[in-house]
Amino acid sequence: MIPYKHEPFTDFSIEENRTKLQEGLKTVKSYLGKDYPLIIGGERIMTDEKKESYNPAEKTETIGHMSQAGQEHAQQAMDVALETFESWRKSTFEFRSDVLFKAAAIIRKRKFEFTALLVKEAGKPWKEADADTAEAIDFLEYYGRNNLKIKDGDHVESRPGEYNQFHYIPLGVGLVISPWNFAFAIMAGTTAAALVTGNTVLLKPSSRTPVVAYKFMEVLEEAGMPKGAVNFIPGSSRDIGDYLVEHKDTRFVSFTGSRDVGTRIYEKAAIVQDGQTHLKRVIAEMGGKDTIVVDSDADLELAAEAITYSAFGFSGQKCSACSRVIALEDIHDELLAKVVEKTKQLKVGNPEADVNVGPVIDDASLEKIQKYIEIGKSEGKLETGGTTENDTGHFVHPTIFSGLRHDDRIMQEEVFGPVVGFATAKDFDQAIEYANATDYGLTGAVITQNREHIEQARRDFMVGNLYFNRGCTAAIVGYQPFGGFKMSGTDSKAGGPDYLTLHMQGKTSSEQM
Ligand code: SER
Repeated sequence: MIPYKHEPFTDFSIEENRTKLQEGLKTVKSYLGKDYPLIIGGERIMTDEKKESYNPAEKTETIGHMSQAGQEHAQQAMDVALETFESWRKSTFEFRSDVLFKAAAIIRKRKFEFTALLVKEAGKPWKEADADTAEAIDFLEYYGRNNLKIKDGDHVESRPGEYNQFHYIPLGVGLVISPWNFAFAIMAGTTAAALVTGNTVLLKPSSRTPVVAYKFMEVLEEAGMPKGAVNFIPGSSRDIGDYLVEHKDTRFVSFTGSRDVGTRIYEKAAIVQDGQTHLKRVIAEMGGKDTIVVDSDADLELAAEAITYSAFGFSGQKCSACSRVIALEDIHDELLAKVVEKTKQLKVGNPEADVNVGPVIDDASLEKIQKYIEIGKSEGKLETGGTTENDTGHFVHPTIFSGLRHDDRIMQEEVFGPVVGFATAKDFDQAIEYANATDYGLTGAVITQNREHIEQARRDFMVGNLYFNRGCTAAIVGYQPFGGFKMSGTDSKAGGPDYLTLHMQGKTSSEQM
C-alpha cells in the first residue's frame, strides 16, 4: 500500500484549477434547492418537516431543504444500527478500510464539486473550502491505514502452556454530532473513525450544513458501506440530540461543537439510564481561545502574516483561530501596525468570487460577534473593522482591538468570528503566563528565534497543538494530530495515531494450551 501522504492543496493561481472550480460551482447549482431525505437502514425517508440550508453569503439562495428526524426516526435508526452492529462488527478490518479508501477515491474525483458545495453551503473562501475537502480525504486515507495497523492488536507475553492475546474490538452504536465549520472534514472524519473500527453510526450533521453530509452519505454507499452501518438523521438537539445522548443503547458520543453543548452532552452521557449496561464514552472537541505569542526577537513580517491568516481565515470561525495576541512590549507597536495594514488589504465578500474573507454562518453568529465588538470597544481601542453588513449575506469586517488586558472579556470568551485582540507582556515568562490564562487549551503559537524560549513554551504553554514560527490553524491529518486540553475537549487527537482506539475496547484472551 502507498504510504499515507496528505492531499495536496489546489493552487488557484493556475487557470485550469480556477476553471475546474467554476465547473464545480455549475454542478452544485444544478442541484440547488432540492429536498433531501433521512437515510435509515439505506431507506430514504422524506419527512414533512424540513429545514432550509442556505448560502450565508446570499441568504436568498437555498442549498437544500433537509428532512428533519423526530424521536421515532431516532429510535428507528437506533434499532437498525443495533441490528447492523451484529454483522458489521464481524466484518474484517480490511473490508472496512477498503470502503474508506474507495470513498476517498470517489471524493478525489469530485473534489471541485465538494469544494464548490462548501463555498456555497458554508460560505468558505476557495482556499478554505479546498482545505476542508482535502482534509476529508486525508481522514479517510489516514484512518483506513491506521485501522489496518491495529488489526492484530498488540503483543502481550505468554507463559509456557499459555497463549495470550490482546485485541481491540468495537464498542457498539455511536452518535456522531458534527459541526458546520469543517462541514466536510470533521463530519467525514468523525463518522469514518467510528465506522472503520466496526461500530455502527447515527450521524446528526449540523443543521447549517446538512447537504454536504448527505452527499458524503451517497459517497459511502457508492463505496460499498453496508446499509444501516451509518444512518443519516439530521434534526434538532432538542428533538433528537438529547434523546440519543441519553439513550440507554448509545455506546459513545463523538461531538464537535461549542463548549456549552459539549459540557451538556458530557453531563447527560454520564447518567446511567434504566437498562443501560455500559458507561458511555464521550469524545468532545470544543472551543478555543487561541493565542499567538510574539517574542522580542521575532521575525515581525512572519508574525503579522501568521496572525492575520490565523485570525481571519474562514472569518475566524475555527476553534483553532487566533483570537489573542500577546506581544512583548518592545515589538508590540510595530507588530500591530503590520497586522492592521495586512488586515486592511483583505477582500471581504461572497466567496464565489475568490475573496479572502467570506460571510459568517448565520444571524445568531453575526449578533454574537456584534455584541463582542461592543465589548471590545469598551475594553480596548478599535484599530480596524468593527462593522457588519447583513443585507445580502452575513458579513463581518475583520476586526482588531489593541490596548487590552489579557484578562479582558474579549481576551477570554470565544467569539468565533473575525475578531482579534492585542495585549502586551513585559517579558517572555509573563507572555506564557498570560497565554495560559484562559479556560481553553486548544492551539497556540510562539513566534521567536530564541531556542530557550521554544523549549520553555514546549514545556509550559498548555495547549494541545503548539506551533512555532507559523500560525495556529491548519493542522494536517497524520502530521499534526489535533485536539485540545482544559475546556477545549477530551484531548482526543483527531488525525492522530491513538484516535481510532478511542472508539474501541481492548479485549484480552488467555488460552491454556
Ligand atoms: N483542524 C483545524 C485546524 O487546525 C481546526 O478544526 O485549524
